[in-house]
Amino acid sequence: MKKLHIVGNWKMSLNKQDSIDLANKIKSISKKEYLNIEVAPTSLYVDHIVKILEESDVNVISQNFDYENLGSYTGGVCLDQLKEIGITKTILGHSERRSKFNESDDQVNKKLETVLNSELDVIFCFDSYEQVPFELIKNNLKNNDNLKLILAYEPTWAIGTGETASIDHIEEIHTKVKNTLTECSLENIPILYGGSVNPSNSREILSSANVDGVLVGGASTKFDQLLGIVNSI
Ligand code: PGA
Repeated sequence: MKKLHIVGNWKMSLNKQDSIDLANKIKSISKKEYLNIEVAPTSLYVDHIVKILEESDVNVISQNFDYENLGSYTGGVCLDQLKEIGITKTILGHSERRSKFNESDDQVNKKLETVLNSELDVIFCFDSYEQVPFELIKNNLKNNDNLKLILAYEPTWAIGTGETASIDHIEEIHTKVKNTLTECSLENIPILYGGSVNPSNSREILSSANVDGVLVGGASTKFDQLLGIVNSI
């Protein structure tokens, strides 16, 4: 069975105690050989959640980072700071960062270039084929053997709406992206799907030929649902 990724994006949905309670329950999830399970807590609590899940089979990642390095950037969080607390991977370019925090495609792509040349791995979100910067990836990804880069197709209309994309639609976009990646000799880059994934639809999505995992928002903040997704495959 191919390696599948289940990534929980907690967004800004949980307060501190709820994040800690959820992490303590998640500790009990034991990894299946073919599954890589990760959660992305609110940055304020990342350090704490890393410690809770230290001995577990679940990896803690970041939801975002700021472009700059250590310096005078009020409110920012940079890759070096994330690395210092044990974070080895970050999400980038989530549609909420693009639409609600006004991160432009140019800014997101500049950050992609930065992270591809750093020690951290990245999950790059896109909501259309056109948003994937293939040339930039080709020029900056030295070696993808260690899953340095994962792509995540997240149609904006499916995020948090309960309207999951059809399998045909997911396959169409994933195949198109995969074909271009293959032309660039980057066929090993996994492609996740995100948008209203839940325990009832996760098996079908995760079983699709060109889907390498799921990026889950709302359902990942409820332990039973997250467990349901993990156990669906
Ligand atoms: P959702 O969010 O599962 O709540 O639709 C997905 C995401 O934003 O990554």
